[in-house]
Amino acid sequence: MKRIAILTAGGDTPALNATIFGAVQKANELGIEVYGLIKGFGGMISPQLPHVRLNPLFSTIPELDPCQGGTLIGASRTYIDSNDKKQLQSVAARMERLKIDGLICIGGDGTINGMQPLSEYFPCVLAPKTIDNDLGLNYIDEPNEWVKDENDAIHDGYRHSSTRDAVSLGEIVNYVTPGYATAVFVVAQSIERIRTTAESHRRIAIVEVMGRDSGYIALGAAYGQPDMILIPEVELDYPKVIRRVRELYDMQKHVVIVVGEGVQDAEGQLGAKSKSVDPAGNILFSGAAERLAEILIKELGDDYFRKNQRHDEAKSAVFTRKVGHTQRGGRPILFDRFYGAQLGGEAVEILNRKQNNHLATLNWTEEFGFTTGQLSANKLRDQWGTIHAREVHSSLYSEQRFQPSELGRQYFAPIFKNAIGHEDMEAIKSHLFSPDNLLTRYQSFNVEMQKRIQYLD
Ligand code: F6P
Repeated sequence: MKRIAILTAGGDTPALNATIFGAVQKANELGIEVYGLIKGFGGMISPQLPHVRLNPLFSTIPELDPCQGGTLIGASRTYIDSNDKKQLQSVAARMERLKIDGLICIGGDGTINGMQPLSEYFPCVLAPKTIDNDLGLNYIDEPNEWVKDENDAIHDGYRHSSTRDAVSLGEIVNYVTPGYATAVFVVAQSIERIRTTAESHRRIAIVEVMGRDSGYIALGAAYGQPDMILIPEVELDYPKVIRRVRELYDMQKHVVIVVGEGVQDAEGQLGAKSKSVDPAGNILFSGAAERLAEILIKELGDDYFRKNQRHDEAKSAVFTRKVGHTQRGGRPILFDRFYGAQLGGEAVEILNRKQNNHLATLNWTEEFGFTTGQLSANKLRDQWGTIHAREVHSSLYSEQRFQPSELGRQYFAPIFKNAIGHEDMEAIKSHLFSPDNLLTRYQSFNVEMQKRIQYLD
């Protein structure tokens, strides 16, 4: 391979620049030119194919900083329609004009779907990223366990029941995705901060975190020591939830509850699920925490709070907060920087071996710790060709305690034991209250990158 292209698709994560950096460093070693395509698949559709050379003379451009969140080549949720042959052919022709021998897409499951039709024209490899940690398998034959069920509206007409009582950690395919550790870092800190205000004012805080149908971020929030964690994979049992809330509130005069945004009850998703207006038609989740607050307010009632003069009404005792996009942004912590970069490098190696429609994976075993590997993208698909978001396996969560199970705690240990580097703490110390921040406006990499963007004639 002489020249490859790289793009970032879907929602951003803090580890994207680190992954691009790892890919470019590996390409420098192998003497491969790397072009960054601007704004994901959206840029490919544009007749001018905006692009930047990321390693002129095989040296990485200075704007590419693995410590900076976001993506310096921009991202979009635009995907190429696999049925639109004309569009696919014109994309392929443009890539040929730019003399691109292969493509690396940094993304999640939507990106694999976007990459698949392109892989019929040139070799494509995915370097994974998603804060949701839902790209992967609890074990290799998991996709075969999905069945079609028209009545299951929650999983868009599919249903899954695991044939395993417990996962074996060494068998997990793609143990963790870059971006997840930083998201958990932000969420855990947010919970610690919300805790003290709930505690002081005798309130019940409901903190909603991202993750769509997957409860990994919610489960990882356990590091912030919330009292209860509700994940989308386990249907809410209201009497049980309310009993536990009362127990906790009676004892400690406040409660902190974390809910994954896709949490559901017997009726379906608690919050609203709507299609985004972007071309990918992504599903957006909203309102789970508010809905749960309404239920608690009604079930607990005003008298419950009045009896000990804690609050005049339930409405003022219960409050909701969304951690929101902060969990997706900012400086990546060491774990994400390091393994994001490793996966970027692995993707280049896979592409260089001319393996097509594959993804780089990050696996873990007791014996070897984390190692990168590769997987054919089709291994993630069920028999109908659908890729399902990886669910938190029931063996990782204790429904009784609303917390990670013993196995769940073991799952987290290798990720978070050394997830934060000393330099992460140093960066906060030296940067946040630097007097320079008051003097100088934020210097966006978009401004510098604009000077480098080139177009096809
Ligand atoms: O998939 C990543 C993710 O951050 C989800 O956790 C979340 O539901 C969604 O993207 C938010 O998307 P947007 O930024 O388009 O609102």
